Amino acid sequence: MSLSMSLSKSLRKSFSKILVFGKNGQLGRAFQNTLSSHSQQDIIFIARGAEKNEDPNTCDLENPLALEQFLKKQQPNLIINAAAYTAVDRAEAEKEHAFAINATAVQIMAEYAAQTKTTLLHYSSDYVFDGKKAAPYLETDLLAPLSIYGASKAAGEAAIISSAAHYAIFRTSWVYGDGANFIRTILRLAKEREQLAIVSDQFGVPTSAAWLAQISLDFIAQPFQSGVYHAVPDGETTWYQLACVVVQTALDAGATLKLQVANIQPIPSKDYPTPAPRPNNSKMANAKLKAVFQGRSVGSSASIPHWQPAVVHYVRQLVKQGN
Ligand SMILES: NC(=O)c1ccc[n+]([C@@H]2O[C@H](COP(=O)([O-])OP(=O)(O)OC[C@H]3O[C@@H](n4cnc5c(N)ncnc54)[C@H](OP(=O)(O)O)[C@@H]3O)[C@@H](O)[C@H]2O)c1
Repeated sequence: MSLSMSLSKSLRKSFSKILVFGKNGQLGRAFQNTLSSHSQQDIIFIARGAEKNEDPNTCDLENPLALEQFLKKQQPNLIINAAAYTAVDRAEAEKEHAFAINATAVQIMAEYAAQTKTTLLHYSSDYVFDGKKAAPYLETDLLAPLSIYGASKAAGEAAIISSAAHYAIFRTSWVYGDGANFIRTILRLAKEREQLAIVSDQFGVPTSAAWLAQISLDFIAQPFQSGVYHAVPDGETTWYQLACVVVQTALDAGATLKLQVANIQPIPSKDYPTPAPRPNNSKMANAKLKAVFQGRSVGSSASIPHWQPAVVHYVRQLVKQGN
């Protein structure tokens, strides 16, 4: 999906030089697709390290000095930080790496943004919450991460909020796009196994990276108030229900699978222990983000749909591509 002409125009008007960190991540790739109509002079996608074609736009976020120098050299007026340390379980044993990328690097971006009046768009996670609340989480709810990953994302948020930068933090959940994710894992396992046991007591909202990139750009294309916004589609599900939707959709689309929906067994989290504990409730209320778009009468085509049609579309695409 490429950017609409009017959105592209207003983005260009507001931001002449855009940096997107996390070029090869799920969200980074979605930004590449969405921003494909932009000229290469005013938008730069930054990968972690040198690529085969010797891409000059690389920066290892674990190297604070390199990041500072990179920002000074590029002089952006918008930073989109789609990069993160996202290995939730591995983070339990790699606290320093997780904090270096998710907190220290983010602090450097925020300080640069504050000093230079650069806008910072950053992404955070449902894992900043402990999941003990029954209702969907609000932006103002207390952060109580259960894991190192969650704590590192919370520290990144705090660094931005305490800076004087103009920023938006989009908290999101259960992201899927061009990269490794739960839906792709289920499709792979469904080809290999006749039985599968999936956790059914963790609730959340699957979020398409393509949609998240699109709504992010729509959001920043017009003036906005600094703050945290929950950026998730409508509705909710469990990992178990999501797995059922994925398998049924793939079968309906003609995929050859060993697994049938009836052979997916719902299990409690305690029967699937992971190094990093997950919140049982990952639901986040998106009313604040919705209100922003409702307040914009002209020039906004943003919509916040239910999660399910986007998952169905994604699975059909994967099946079509032979995944
Ligand atoms: N995935 C989810 O389910 C989920 C849920 C809630 C929130 N989020 C948040 O959403 C955002 C986007 O997530 P995603 O799913 O797109 O993540 P992703 O696919 O794991 O991509 C992360 C990107 O960060 C880059 N990165 C990691 N360490 C780096 C370093 N030291 N220097 C430079 N770049 C580095 C990675 O580079 P390489 O390509 O070189 O590895 C990768 O391109 C993140 O802030 C994440 O915390 C994600």
